[in-house]
Amino acid sequence: MKLIVAYIRPEVLRNVKCALYARGIYSMSVTNVLGAGRQKGYTEVYRGIQTEVNLLKKLRLEIGISDELSAEAVQAIEDSARTGHEGDGVIFVLDIADCRRIRTGECL
Ligand SMILES: Nc1ncnc2c1ncn2[C@@H]1O[C@H](COP(=O)(O)OP(=O)(O)OP(=O)(O)O)[C@@H](O)[C@H]1O
Ligand SMILES: [Mg+2]
Repeated sequence: MKLIVAYIRPEVLRNVKCALYARGIYSMSVTNVLGAGRQKGYTEVYRGIQTEVNLLKKLRLEIGISDELSAEAVQAIEDSARTGHEGDGVIFVLDIADCRRIRTGECL
């Protein structure tokens, strides 16, 4: 069982949702976040000086998913979230020790 945590551009959410839905993946959480990657949130450096990191609006997508479906979901996110420009985001895959659906007590 995995937890996929993906940081994506807000404008690609619709595309990413479509890609996941097409694979039968509907369960997800999405939150607004501020973040920076290797460029520290800047596309230009004024006179070579940056005094602080510029945090940009991104979305954090979380999906709890079976081991079998995990790779397909990651590929779907990668393909549907890519614009080819810096700032497209990153995807992390975490191993999950346990889970519990509150209504039924079952796991995923
Ligand atoms: N190592 C990280 N840990 C946590 N969040 C990250 C990390 N890297 C990126 N993010 C999140 O992803 C967003 C987009 O990152 P970004 O795509 O700029 O990463 P990058 O490594 O700089 O890649 P690129 O060179 O393609 O821009 C960030 O604003 C941040 O929210
Ligand atoms: Mg970057």
